Amino acid sequence: MDDKRKMQTEKHLTGTLILSVFTAVLGFFQYGYSLGVINAPQKVIEAHYARVLGIVSPDRYAANASGEDGTFLQAGTEGTLPPPADTSEDLAASPHILTMYWSLSVSVFAIGGMVSSFTVGWIGDRLGRVKAMLVVNVLSIAGNLLMGLAKFGPSHILIISGRAVTGLYCGLSSGLVPMYVSEVSPTALRGALGTLHQLAIVTGILFSQILGLDFLLGNDVMWPLLLGLSGVAALLQFFLLLLCPESPRYLYIKLGKVEEAKKNLKRLRGNCDPMKEIEEMEKEKQEAASEKKVSIRQLFTSSKYRQAVIVALMVQISQQFSGINAIFYYSTNIFERAGVDQPVYATIGVGVVNTVFTVISVFLVEKAGRRSLFLAGLMGMLVSAVAMTVGLVLLSKFAWMSYVSMVAIFLFVIFFEVGPGPIPWFIVAELFSQGPRPAAIAVAGFCNWACNFIVGMCFQYIADLCGPYVFAIFAGLLLIFFLFAHFKVPETKGKSFEEIAAVFRRKKLSAKAMTELQDLRRSEEA
Ligand code: GLC
Repeated sequence: MDDKRKMQTEKHLTGTLILSVFTAVLGFFQYGYSLGVINAPQKVIEAHYARVLGIVSPDRYAANASGEDGTFLQAGTEGTLPPPADTSEDLAASPHILTMYWSLSVSVFAIGGMVSSFTVGWIGDRLGRVKAMLVVNVLSIAGNLLMGLAKFGPSHILIISGRAVTGLYCGLSSGLVPMYVSEVSPTALRGALGTLHQLAIVTGILFSQILGLDFLLGNDVMWPLLLGLSGVAALLQFFLLLLCPESPRYLYIKLGKVEEAKKNLKRLRGNCDPMKEIEEMEKEKQEAASEKKVSIRQLFTSSKYRQAVIVALMVQISQQFSGINAIFYYSTNIFERAGVDQPVYATIGVGVVNTVFTVISVFLVEKAGRRSLFLAGLMGMLVSAVAMTVGLVLLSKFAWMSYVSMVAIFLFVIFFEVGPGPIPWFIVAELFSQGPRPAAIAVAGFCNWACNFIVGMCFQYIADLCGPYVFAIFAGLLLIFFLFAHFKVPETKGKSFEEIAAVFRRKKLSAKAMTELQDLRRSEEA
């Protein structure tokens, strides 16, 4: 960075800006924490469910502990469970009931996110960014309380509802936080501050994995605290938000409050002259006024947006159906089945690698293009998924295959963070101009959460069904996503909306020309 730029950046990076961005991304930290927290304590909580429901099946646990029952991802809690339940029917049903309750506990979080992600634009505009983040925090505190108190009532119900409510919070916060951060950041720092979202998520995941160690909170006594602990981040965020200035862009563009906008801009930028940014906002305001707001329906019915919508949805689908959250929800069990001695530590290793490579990708994204990183990431994940499958399939023949699986899982996560992890979070905003952008972000957010839910809910069932071949399914999907991205995803780095729209138009025209050519050939042959 040359001296002049460095000085400018330092000048822009005021205490208030740092506080505001830090406070906002605490929302993403909670998202990461809730995602990862369910992983390490699976065994103890499942055992607790079994006790509460009175449907303990010792056979299941014994068989699973030795890996004899053909299932891939069942808990092994031998020694921690009470005597068998009463009827043999119960015993037969128990694995399914437990799998159902556990899968639901994991994935209901994403249902919450799915539902609330649609309302982000509305709440953000109505209450303002800061007040909206303040209000939605109540959901996080309530959800965490439900989980923290789970031992005092029907635990499975309290956990499932607690996770649903926390999911509602995370869905809202995953829209409000980027909105606020991008609006308070100076243009020169927008990219770098934007990538902090993924960093906050992965830090949250790592925290939850470390606290999930059995000698810390991942044990039979402390798990309610483990589940409810992100409520502390919510409380912290709540109080810090009281000190954060409302977004000047919101005040100026949405509410027309010029003086307040100037005042807040001064707080955020220090001694800088606010006029240049105010002029920018005025331009943005005029642009927004000249472009009509596009509804979700119009987004799907107008052929103008079709290509961009397909790309926006496919990048979300690729991110989630790559199988990444199968790792983050269930890695402890996956490692256990892959013959790794200390599965919980391996899970923490995944968290560390994930965090380190997210930091690296912050720099990579600025150097290489989005498209090439996305493609490289998908290909790397594909190869890793194949290696993981080979490792799991051959484990019974060669014990050292457990290392192959372990390395493959690490590589899978590394390649994810190279591209398919961070890029979908910001590429949607780059693909659409002011008018259709809010609708596109809502639809993309919904799609991301929906796919997250499907993976969380179905993975355990599919894993039971496919055994060690489960990651071959993800390998197949990754191949499809790679081909799609190769043919359809344009480069957006350094391009204006007009240039991106022109790329889509060219693609559409060439597809049309191809169809006409084929029709012509067919009619000639006839
Ligand atoms: C992305 C995904 C999220 C995933 C995380 C893992 O943020 O959206 O679902 O858990 O990456 O790092």
